[in-house]
Amino acid sequence: MNRKIILVDDDQNLLSSFKRTLADFELNTAASAAQALEIIDAQGPFAVLVSDLRMPGMDGLSFLSRVKDRHPDTVRMVLTGHGNMENAVKAVNDGYVFRFMTKPIATDDMKKALESGLEQHGLILAGREIEALKRIRGTLDGVVSAFTSLVELRDPYTAGHQKRVAHLATAMAQDMGLDQERIDGLRMAAMVHDIGKNSVPSAYLNKPGLLNQAEMAIIRTHPRVGFEILDPVDFPWPVSRIVLQHHERLDGSGYPQGLRAKDILIEARILAVADVVDAMASHRPYRPSQGIKKALMEIQTKAGSQYDAEAVNACVRLFKAKGYSLVRGVEVPRPSPDQLL
Ligand SMILES: [Fe+2]
Ligand SMILES: [Fe+2]
Repeated sequence: MNRKIILVDDDQNLLSSFKRTLADFELNTAASAAQALEIIDAQGPFAVLVSDLRMPGMDGLSFLSRVKDRHPDTVRMVLTGHGNMENAVKAVNDGYVFRFMTKPIATDDMKKALESGLEQHGLILAGREIEALKRIRGTLDGVVSAFTSLVELRDPYTAGHQKRVAHLATAMAQDMGLDQERIDGLRMAAMVHDIGKNSVPSAYLNKPGLLNQAEMAIIRTHPRVGFEILDPVDFPWPVSRIVLQHHERLDGSGYPQGLRAKDILIEARILAVADVVDAMASHRPYRPSQGIKKALMEIQTKAGSQYDAEAVNACVRLFKAKGYSLVRGVEVPRPSPDQLL
């Protein structure tokens, strides 16, 4: 962590005395603004800068504003013998000064000021990290949406289905009180959960009748294909594993691994329920929509055996008590086959 401090004052005696009394700090000194700028350029940004206001050559305020432009994260403070109100206001307004101090200053007060300057610098850096993280999250969101659009080009039904499932799964997870971090990962995974269907021949996806065993076996590869597409992406959530497990069932009857109950991620258990509800409530080329009532009956009948009971309860509560309906606006105009969810 950067704890470098630079003190700028044309009073050599003051600088020498600070060097002695502030020996615990990583202290650099400069006798003029020009010299300080040279040191800053040579040694990289400082955490804290303390400057006098009146110095020969460049005055303190111009110097502070120059440093602010070059190194906005450096915490800037003024230590002056001319501590009138006008100077203080100008320093704060023009130079964004964190502290305005007057000479003479007690060593203890100076130490406290430097400590709080260092702390402030830490906060500024932490804020920057959070901003960077938010940007990365935004980028991830964009990439995942691009994946969904890619699927949409080939198979509009699957894309609309993924968006509706993402919406429902997110609402269920919120109802179940999952923490926001997991909900974010679940939403991402749901948006692309059938991406592996891109490797399934369109003839199978668009076949109006029921599929034979061989065709079904190929469609059943889609969770693993999806896993392989997504696994190289370094998501901050287990997106690829959620996708891999979205057709697993609590009793081990699912695929591709035949996992049981607690071996299935909670996100995948929620996704499985949202997935089956949307699939049953949607039109398929080989059957009309079975309606939301039948879909809810199906998950309730198999709650605890195939589907996570808590996830089922949350889903039923949403539709029956909270007025949830499958999201409109992400409906797609051309229903095309999407066998086996
Ligand atoms: Fe699927
Ligand atoms: Fe699906």
